[in-house]
Amino acid sequence: MSNQKRQMILATFIHNSGSHPGGWRYPQSGPVDQHDFGHYARLAQKAEQGKLHVYFSGDSQGFPHIKGKDAFATTDYAGKLEPTTLLAALAAVTSQIGLVATVSTTFNEPYSIARRFASLDHISNGRIGWNVVTSTGSIEARNFGFDEIMDHDRRYDRAEEFVNVVRNLWDSWEDGSITRDAASGRYFDPEMVHQLNHAGEFFKVAGPLNVARPPQGHPVIVQAGGSPAGRALAARTADMIFTAQNELSGAKDFYKDMKSRAKGFGRNPDNLKVIPSVQFIIGGTEAEASRKQEELLELIPEALALQTLQVQIGADLSHCSPDDYLPEIPKTEGGQWVQDQIVKMARDENLRIGELAKRVVVSRASLIRSGTPEQIADFCAEWFTEGAADGFSVTPNYLPDNLEEFIDQVVPILQKRGLFRTDYEGGTLRENIGLERPENSFVNDPALGCEPRIWQ
Ligand SMILES: Cc1cc2nc3c(=O)[nH]c(=O)nc-3n(C[C@H](O)[C@H](O)[C@H](O)COP(=O)(O)O)c2cc1C
Repeated sequence: MSNQKRQMILATFIHNSGSHPGGWRYPQSGPVDQHDFGHYARLAQKAEQGKLHVYFSGDSQGFPHIKGKDAFATTDYAGKLEPTTLLAALAAVTSQIGLVATVSTTFNEPYSIARRFASLDHISNGRIGWNVVTSTGSIEARNFGFDEIMDHDRRYDRAEEFVNVVRNLWDSWEDGSITRDAASGRYFDPEMVHQLNHAGEFFKVAGPLNVARPPQGHPVIVQAGGSPAGRALAARTADMIFTAQNELSGAKDFYKDMKSRAKGFGRNPDNLKVIPSVQFIIGGTEAEASRKQEELLELIPEALALQTLQVQIGADLSHCSPDDYLPEIPKTEGGQWVQDQIVKMARDENLRIGELAKRVVVSRASLIRSGTPEQIADFCAEWFTEGAADGFSVTPNYLPDNLEEFIDQVVPILQKRGLFRTDYEGGTLRENIGLERPENSFVNDPALGCEPRIWQ
């Protein structure tokens, strides 16, 4: 057992010009061009300077669901760089930070995703992670030949098979199989290359992958589901789970649940890292932080907030006034967990619809906290030591300033308290978050994938 003090994992979840819907207008940062690579390069380099573990780029293959062109036109959703392309470029301008991108299993095929992430892992020298999502709405479905999105739990069945196929494809080439032996003229050892021949419910994939085994063996798998199906997928397959939690006791329950689910699948629960998303508004004094929060709220149009609330909880509230309390909400087909979290927040805090809408459009179901750097560090320390988190995914509200404030003002306090490292410990993302490099499944299970060889 290591005597080393447990330290937190820190990620940053970067949205275009900041996650706060008023963030792109916030005068301190000024509107940034979300198609400008230099913007993301500077953010990733700043995060690396702060020794953060992960730069995370979320994604959806379509616009978020916001009804009404006037509400939509107030957002910075006008465009977003495709995240795996972005990560390839970020890998070239950073050298230590982990780089994680969202890719959906509902609107992709495992072979191309295995290939893409294996390539990224080689390009970045082992710093890549994949946030496995199943997508949430019909807007994405309509871009891929469907009118509606596949049923929620079926999407998770597909995701499970998808991840298994990808993992086995990453194992196609055993470590050391490519020898490049100029003297003998043998470039690789064909006995160490395996064909998958997978035929499952959703996919038929022969393999082998035409990329060598990634430096990490398997790039880090991240998951962000909250439903029972989402949690089960994460507990079985993920190295890290991103989650939206807005209060300590719920976060502790979630943490405990995920660790015990991982154990239930025969895993060491320490190897599934639970990382809540958090938004911090940081000021030199409490009053300054509250003033910033108020200024940001002022920048959110009410129409956008109300539309977002309706989409997130999956209910039509057009007959309600912003001053009303939330009526009974019928259960929705997908995203039930997000709906439950929002309804609970409204009931627990006695929020009227207008207030709830602004809360939801700012943070979805995750936590937003304002305070001094010391207070933010206290918050992180409490959740980390109380068994609610293995670390945090800090989601800046406005960019670049809100990320810089966290790195320059909060990270040094966490370091001084011994809660966060002062330098990278390893070369790969797995090493930095304390995870073993996975064994190759073909080596462990010789019955799998030995015959026929692709060249027979
Ligand atoms: C922190 C966090 C980040 C997420 N990032 C994405 C994303 O980039 N793309 C996406 O389609 N869904 C994303 N999601 C949504 C989840 O994948 C998931 O659909 C949602 O939490 C609802 O859970 P369920 O799918 O188990 O019902 C994210 C969720 C959380 C909590």
